[in-house]
Amino acid sequence: MPELRDAIAAQIELRYGLNFDPGNEVLVTHGGIHAVMAAVFALVDAGDEVLIEDPCWMPYVGCTVMAGGTPVRFAADVNDGFRFSITNLQQKLTQRSRLLILNSPCNPTGRMLDRKTLQEIAALVLAYDLWIISDEVYEALSYGHPHVPTAALETLRSRTITIGSLSKTYAMTGWRVGYAVGPAKAISEMLKVSQYSITNVAPYVQRAAVTAITSPDVAQYVKDMQAIYAIRRSQVIETMKSLSNLKAQAPDGAFYFMIDISQSGMNSEAFASRLLEEYAVAVVPGQGFGPAADSFVRVTFAAPIQEVIEGLSLVGAFITKLLNSPSDAV
Ligand SMILES: Cc1ncc(COP(=O)(O)O)c(C=O)c1O
Repeated sequence: MPELRDAIAAQIELRYGLNFDPGNEVLVTHGGIHAVMAAVFALVDAGDEVLIEDPCWMPYVGCTVMAGGTPVRFAADVNDGFRFSITNLQQKLTQRSRLLILNSPCNPTGRMLDRKTLQEIAALVLAYDLWIISDEVYEALSYGHPHVPTAALETLRSRTITIGSLSKTYAMTGWRVGYAVGPAKAISEMLKVSQYSITNVAPYVQRAAVTAITSPDVAQYVKDMQAIYAIRRSQVIETMKSLSNLKAQAPDGAFYFMIDISQSGMNSEAFASRLLEEYAVAVVPGQGFGPAADSFVRVTFAAPIQEVIEGLSLVGAFITKLLNSPSDAV
């Protein structure tokens, strides 16, 4: 629907001063996940290597495998708040490398990519002639550091497909509407993938998306929501400080953070299932996001804050119990 593509392009220009032609550089998709899938299918041929950070949101790996590509994981700097590791990326680049997938703000770590890191990434991307999928679905949720779109780097603009979604910014998860913006040649390939998979996003959903993006009332709701998340994040940080046996890095963006459970002596899956069984607290095992995160569990503050605080206290109680009886950690 042209109105939605116009609204998406106008909003990106307003936020970041970046120009995308709504006629051939914007694709409306069935949520951000469909945009990721269409981009991977459009760019990856059998045998191509796709560089994916560890930990990451797992559909990047699944989409790569379905497209016949080879996922190549490079670890984030786990001991330094999951900072992006240029060294680890560099070590995994080969002549078969085709695509790098970036995610900022990151699910599961909340880590964001600053301009300096993006410049370092750009040097490698140009040297190895890579495409980038930049998943920025959490762009509206950042705390203190402004979000830097990958396409804002002049050298990367022509080789970056940016993924956006209304799921997070407008809490419209169930509506299933997202988008991709990027160079016309890539968007036209993605359009074929989209037409052969979903035909199009339902027009009434697209109309709702236009309203979400353009309505001043909705813009105010988004500001209110951002303020609530910022307060919740501060409350989580305060709670973590008061629980001396819990270690976590404060997230720069999104609504997740990783708790370090290494002192428990358990892997993340065993830890999460015992926590669920014995304390009725649900966390996501870090292992689900990649092997580098196996001594972490992911927690979200998208839930009511009192529940999150209560849950964190119970995680603390569980760790204390394990520390007091190490033989119990199996
Ligand atoms: C990093 C990341 N990208 C993309 C998505 C896709 O969101 P949706 O398909 O609801 O737009 C999610 C959802 O959790 C996500 O965490």
